[in-house]
Amino acid sequence: MLDLLLTNATLPDGRSGMSVAVREGRIVDIGAGLQAAAGQTLDAQGQLLTPPFVDAHFHMDSTLSYGLPRVNQSGTLLEGIALWGELKPQLTQDAVMERALRYCDWAVAQGLLAIRSHVDVCDPRLLAVEALLEVKRRVAPYLDLQLVAFPQDGVLRGPEGPQQHLHNLQRALDLGVDVVGGIPHFERSMQDGALSVKLLCEIAAQRGLRVDMHCDESDDPLSRHVETLAFETQRLGLQGRVSGSHLTSMHSMDNYYVSKLLPLLAEAQLHVVANPLINITLQGRHDSYPKRRGMTRVPELLAAGINVAFGQDCVLDPWYSLGSADLLEVAHMGLHVAQMTSQRAMRQCFDAVTGNAAKAMGLENYGLQVGCDASFVLLQARDPVEAIRLRAKRLKVFRRGVLLAESAPSTHALHLPGRPAQTTLMP
Ligand code: FE2
Repeated sequence: MLDLLLTNATLPDGRSGMSVAVREGRIVDIGAGLQAAAGQTLDAQGQLLTPPFVDAHFHMDSTLSYGLPRVNQSGTLLEGIALWGELKPQLTQDAVMERALRYCDWAVAQGLLAIRSHVDVCDPRLLAVEALLEVKRRVAPYLDLQLVAFPQDGVLRGPEGPQQHLHNLQRALDLGVDVVGGIPHFERSMQDGALSVKLLCEIAAQRGLRVDMHCDESDDPLSRHVETLAFETQRLGLQGRVSGSHLTSMHSMDNYYVSKLLPLLAEAQLHVVANPLINITLQGRHDSYPKRRGMTRVPELLAAGINVAFGQDCVLDPWYSLGSADLLEVAHMGLHVAQMTSQRAMRQCFDAVTGNAAKAMGLENYGLQVGCDASFVLLQARDPVEAIRLRAKRLKVFRRGVLLAESAPSTHALHLPGRPAQTTLMP
């Protein structure tokens, strides 16, 4: 007997009237109109069933700290970094954990069941690292949390010399942080930026870890550390295990250079994570008009065969005053910023917050296929484009066959003479 039989679902690939059969936390069958005895049945009523949302780029050590110790007055990246520097000495492990756990509650409610979070390793106390490792253990029954050792202040810019932050980063990895991070454009010089990429990729290769670097998060067309990242990936045999996050300088680069760069990224099987909400607010701040959008070249990267995900990056922290763990909001913004308005491109934006992000994180058993984890979200929408348009309600959120969260359908009561009593904003 099955544990769960979900019927009459529409899948992201467009197949409708589909049933999903679940036993012991796995999908054991999927097809049109399946019939079998099950402990629990659920009629999806033609709504969209999707694998869970995945956020391939987040900062959980700073999330929900908005206003501490003060609000970012200018809303700029540099004031955000300065503000984070002011907040860091005041952090306590309990406060970081409490905020992170609260954010994970929001994530589950939004059907977001896997998050890759960077964690700052420049504080020699490694307080945030220890807090998030504990959060990772606590949320493991309901959410996959992957941690990246992130030297926010520059891995070679330690006040006591270039070994200081490198040493802290190695200690964080020793404690169990999963992925090697970096921020080459924030090092003191282009040369140090390139050196940081080389050193960090070598650490990842030695330890058998993945890499995810904040790379070229600026409007500088000559910030080209992603080229070094691709080179080191290829040199060290890390293909498919490295992500370049942000890559906003690519927006400003010379077209000829980008035509050379894209095949190098494809050759290195680099994953790219754009963060539309943050990139559109933080980039182009030194422009008058025309004002650059600043997001990396998503359609061109996809056309070159490169895996592109969209990340949330920040929620209610020194860099961003909004956000709600809603990856459909992220996809909505990405679609607009990249002008991805064709039918195919809009669906690619949905993939960017589901399957593509899972691929960047290297998640196993993810997807709506036989043998995969029975983790999925039932949305109040009939297809991925409608889901993005409405930032659709997450009606049911399942992980490994267990119901984790549910929401009542969204409806609006109307009091209009001669008109229906309610609307769901669906034609
Ligand atoms: Fe980031």
